[in-house]
Amino acid sequence: MSDLVMNQPSLDIRQQVHIPLAYPQDSTREMLRIGVIGYGYWGPNIVRNLQGQKSSRALMVCDKNPNALARVRKAHPGINTVSDPLDVLRSAEIDAVAIVTPVWTHYELAKLALENGKHVFIEKPFTSSSAQAEELLEIAARKNLTIMVDHTFLFTGAVRKIRELVDRGTLGDLYYYDSLRVNLGLFQHDVSVIWDLAPHDLSIMDHIIKDQPEAIVATGEKHLNGVEDVAYMTLYFPRNVIAHINCNWLSPVKIRTTLIGGQKKMVVWNDLVADEKVRVYDRGVQITSGEGIRDLLVSYRSGDMWAPQLEQVEALYVELDYFTDCVMNNKVPFNDGHAGLRVVRMLEAAEKSIRKRGEMVRL
Ligand SMILES: NC(=O)c1ccc[n+]([C@@H]2O[C@H](COP(=O)([O-])OP(=O)(O)OC[C@H]3O[C@@H](n4cnc5c(N)ncnc54)[C@H](O)[C@@H]3O)[C@@H](O)[C@H]2O)c1
Repeated sequence: MSDLVMNQPSLDIRQQVHIPLAYPQDSTREMLRIGVIGYGYWGPNIVRNLQGQKSSRALMVCDKNPNALARVRKAHPGINTVSDPLDVLRSAEIDAVAIVTPVWTHYELAKLALENGKHVFIEKPFTSSSAQAEELLEIAARKNLTIMVDHTFLFTGAVRKIRELVDRGTLGDLYYYDSLRVNLGLFQHDVSVIWDLAPHDLSIMDHIIKDQPEAIVATGEKHLNGVEDVAYMTLYFPRNVIAHINCNWLSPVKIRTTLIGGQKKMVVWNDLVADEKVRVYDRGVQITSGEGIRDLLVSYRSGDMWAPQLEQVEALYVELDYFTDCVMNNKVPFNDGHAGLRVVRMLEAAEKSIRKRGEMVRL
């Protein structure tokens, strides 16, 4: 099971999330009607979270696999099931489409959706290339349609808290972001481990560091089926901020640990534990210079550790509520197509660097 759907909260907790919406919450006429394409591993989470929403509903699910459609009918008897995406994309009953299919299908399905006047909620990574993402952005802008890229982690209590700590200056100037995202599988056939796992960290960095990386160095190796299954990525940001991502589908154990170092405080985020996922350490190093160059005085600060309270709401539920709000109220989501494009550009640069055995690629 994905880290993001572990510890699913009760509906009671969900109902406490109040994101103001400028339309009646109990009127089905005002509901955002969503068609979901793709009901494999991740699609069921999207449909389940849509069914709990106050102002949107999944009306139709499409999958070309009849077994997937049988699962939809069993879990959600009220939802119309179809096997041809065009039945969703051309339906007058549908306002927005959630695209939850493999990455190589994203561009074509999203383009058809936008051309048919549908808003788009699309899985990470947004597209297989930045040229595709740019084209989709152009169509959406021309037709005044919303694109939201499912960067789910941005809606977790952990990332929301880390962003708050950074924004408030609690961590001080950032030094580094260091992530270990390893496990056995789930092996993807159409994309490498970088395109599968790194979008999580790249979207989190994009959200909390805010600056764009200046250069990327990546290395990786293929062992089983022609795509990298182990990869390392280093990103250089302005002001000496450095980031590293270790992604691996061949690890015997699952680890999801991120260290974020700042001048004033340091964070350890272990996403696999139920309690104290985020710990903030008042630790650091201070260097003061004495008389000459050899008189550097190094002092280590080792203060308290605390674990801030995190919101306990399922990230996808909050994200889909936000999608509805953005569409209905014509707001630009922070995880819009431009955010998706920035992540795709970083992935492309990483891939280029891997092909050149770790040569630095400037962005
Ligand atoms: N946000 C997250 O945390 C997260 C987690 C897992 C997967 N994902 C993303 O979700 C997407 C899907 O991943 P998955 O693991 O569910 O894949 P999957 O292979 O398990 O499921 C994809 C489903 O789409 C169907 N499909 C493919 N092409 C289709 C088409 N043209 N028309 C109709 N149905 C079609 C397949 O039959 C399959 O049932 C990927 O982009 C992946 O990166 C995101």
